[in-house]
Amino acid sequence: MADQPLLRVEDLQKSFGGVAAVDGVSMEVRRGEVHAVIGPNGAGKTTLISLLAGELRPDRGRVLFDGRDIARRPAHARAMLGFARSFQITSVVPGMRVVDNVMLAVLARDGRSFRFWRPARNDPALIRPAMAALERVGLSEVAEERAGAVSHGEHRQLEIAMTLAAEPELLLLDEPMAGMSADESRRMTGILEGLKGEKTMLLVEHDMDVVFALADRISVLVSGRIAASGAPEAVRADEAVRRAYLGDEAA
Ligand SMILES: Nc1ncnc2c1ncn2[C@@H]1O[C@H](COP(=O)(O)OP(=O)(O)OP(=O)(O)O)[C@@H](O)[C@H]1O
Ligand SMILES: [Mg+2]
Repeated sequence: MADQPLLRVEDLQKSFGGVAAVDGVSMEVRRGEVHAVIGPNGAGKTTLISLLAGELRPDRGRVLFDGRDIARRPAHARAMLGFARSFQITSVVPGMRVVDNVMLAVLARDGRSFRFWRPARNDPALIRPAMAALERVGLSEVAEERAGAVSHGEHRQLEIAMTLAAEPELLLLDEPMAGMSADESRRMTGILEGLKGEKTMLLVEHDMDVVFALADRISVLVSGRIAASGAPEAVRADEAVRRAYLGDEAA
């Protein structure tokens, strides 16, 4: 159903040693939207992403992707369904060319073994989608360079290209701008802007300029619970959110 949310989370719960990191979270991510999750340090944002990606098992609750409960399916099964968590799907091999890294990600998507890498590396069916993904993130020009030789920002762009190579429907992005310079962060924001409308994104981000530039809707997580959820203007104006989180910035 087109109007059914792509992702629906119901009463999700995860505790570590008696402390609830994610405490009964329910939320929806609509098809095609950029949904930002913001909240203070330790609020449970990364734990939530890990539960969604299948890297952690919830103690309770449901994760419905396209209407199917996948809360207890392993991470690789979710990747096959169209989930992709950037920076964790595949790691960059520094000794290989930038384009080779993306081609490996295409191979992985197709479930083909890296044993076939040698015969496959000149295969246009592999090169074409890899170059297309590099184009999307503005890395065509460094395609032939060794991955280990590109700048930090380009490295992160490469990770996005590798994530895109898996052709996910939903991108799970946990602080994609972390450790970036202002310039690199602007470039990455532009890349994500370019993917808007085409990919559904769940974006955890601390930088409010980035959040308000990209998000269609925002959910605020405080102490493992959703404190507010809605359009950016509504969330920005929400008194409880200002007190709990935006604090100084809103003042
Ligand atoms: N593997 C773990 N074992 C024990 N406690 C954990 C584990 N992972 C997270 N926690 C705890 O769960 C809570 C939520 O952590 P989480 O990393 O999800 O927060 P966050 O919102 O991503 O924070 P940040 O903004 O700093 O990235 C914290 O109290 C953290 O210490
Ligand atoms: Mg985190």
